[in-house]
Amino acid sequence: MQLPLKVLLIEDREDDALLIARTLTRGGYDAYIHRVDTEAALREALASQSWDVILSDYRLPRFSCQAALRALQESGADIPFIALSGTGNEETILDLVRAGARDYVMKDNLARLPSAIEREMREAEGRRQRKRLEAQLQQAMKMEAIGRLAGGVAHDFNNLLTVITGFAQLALLDENPAREGLEQILFAAERASGLTRQLLAFSRQQALEPRVFDLNRLVRDMEKMLRRLIGENVRVSTSMAGEPLFVRADPSQLEQVLLNLAINSRDAIGHGGKLILGTSRRRLEGAAATLHGLHPGDYCAIAVADNGCGIAPDVLPHIFEPFFTTRPEGQGTGLGLSTVYGIVQQSGGAIYAQSDGRTGTTMTVLLPLSALAADAALAARPEALAASTETVLVAEDDDAVRKLVAESLAASGFRVLQAANGEEALEILHALGPAGVELLVTDVVMPGISGPILAARAAELLPRLRVLFMSGYTEDVIRHHGLSQGHAAFLQKPFAPGELVRRARELLDADKGKPRVQRAT
Ligand SMILES: Nc1ncnc2c1ncn2[C@@H]1O[C@H](COP(=O)(O)OP(=O)(O)OP(=O)(O)O)[C@@H](O)[C@H]1O
Ligand SMILES: [Mg+2]
Repeated sequence: MQLPLKVLLIEDREDDALLIARTLTRGGYDAYIHRVDTEAALREALASQSWDVILSDYRLPRFSCQAALRALQESGADIPFIALSGTGNEETILDLVRAGARDYVMKDNLARLPSAIEREMREAEGRRQRKRLEAQLQQAMKMEAIGRLAGGVAHDFNNLLTVITGFAQLALLDENPAREGLEQILFAAERASGLTRQLLAFSRQQALEPRVFDLNRLVRDMEKMLRRLIGENVRVSTSMAGEPLFVRADPSQLEQVLLNLAINSRDAIGHGGKLILGTSRRRLEGAAATLHGLHPGDYCAIAVADNGCGIAPDVLPHIFEPFFTTRPEGQGTGLGLSTVYGIVQQSGGAIYAQSDGRTGTTMTVLLPLSALAADAALAARPEALAASTETVLVAEDDDAVRKLVAESLAASGFRVLQAANGEEALEILHALGPAGVELLVTDVVMPGISGPILAARAAELLPRLRVLFMSGYTEDVIRHHGLSQGHAAFLQKPFAPGELVRRARELLDADKGKPRVQRAT
């Protein structure tokens, strides 16, 4: 089998060029040879594509071998350069080596050329590998440093937020003339609380609940919801490993990972395109494992590939940094991929992005393959039950969150109604009458009628209504907000779609028939 080889040949003589071509074919190469004999043509060839090797005649009528080496250096490319000459003057050879030539082959001994090329290409690959490893190490050290900084800030910031919200809520308990101002403080604090939680995820400080489960199944369970969320103009397809891929991780955190990646793809695709979700088994050995900061061994790969706008080479090294975003002001926080990065790292895996900057992006998550079989508990995960059919009313003032919640529930079969605030939710409940809605999923902090007040008023209309509260605050902080204890479930934001559906199902199935909501105190 002939080895393909792309040769940039600097040679003014046609007959010598033919001889070189023949030597390469005889040496086992299927060579594509591009011949140039001026400096301008050389520079153009260097700029237009990549080359495996440069072969250069030493004596050129229109420019010198030294000028060619200078042009190569200026291009920044690491391409082996081999000089060819009819004379074997020691001084000449030394000059060329000093100028950066890797080897020197006499034209009357061209038979040596194929082996010289082979050695140079092997060494060039070694240099490339070392460069990749150095870059990877530097990247890992950078992310580690940012992680420590982000984690430290987030931790202290969270404590401050607890004080801010605590006192604002205390002040709201009495008739307070500053009520509106205090409510604004609480809104801002809730946003801040969400941000700090994402930062904590990035710095790998989340409380995870790892279990052993089949990744294929998780991806399949998510697929339907992702299809709906991503919209009709993106074709979603899957390419799954034929065997189960057991990993030990927190399933709801992995759902969050898939969701963030898929949303980025949707945004990159814009009007029409495709998204492929894939899983596969990978064996990583030696350098391939080190390159991702992993131990050699068996891994499961989840790939999310899109044919969107791609990621430019100068953007690529930054995408996992917190607050790095290329979106217009106010359209993205730049925490999506940082959260993903933190979750994957904390689960003992790695993530990397590939893009040529034009025709799309592939994000690959690697997770250690678990030798254990799946937990029996997980085999009976609630979302594997028959599709839900109940009617759910979602009250949430943040449009993006409301859409996500609605889509997640609809994808599991629920009939979903949406309200952008407490007043709208009450109007819907009034209009539908006593049997209209089985579950209310509501944000806790909303302008006007808050979640707990909405729940209490709803309970007067529909005593059997179950309520699932969502909030960016922890349950502890929320307790002061009048959330009735023991009669309503609580879901802390941000949550994964599967978690939401599981909790909704649990709530609807738990001691059926009893009233679920009491008046908030
Ligand atoms: N699939 C993709 N295609 C093209 N660019 C991407 C893709 N995924 C990520 N990016 C780039 O990486 C940047 C960072 O992504 P990240 O998810 O962290 O933040 P964001 O999407 O900008 O904001 P947020 O996720 O917080 O709403 C994006 O702004 C975008 O430039
Ligand atoms: Mg994002």
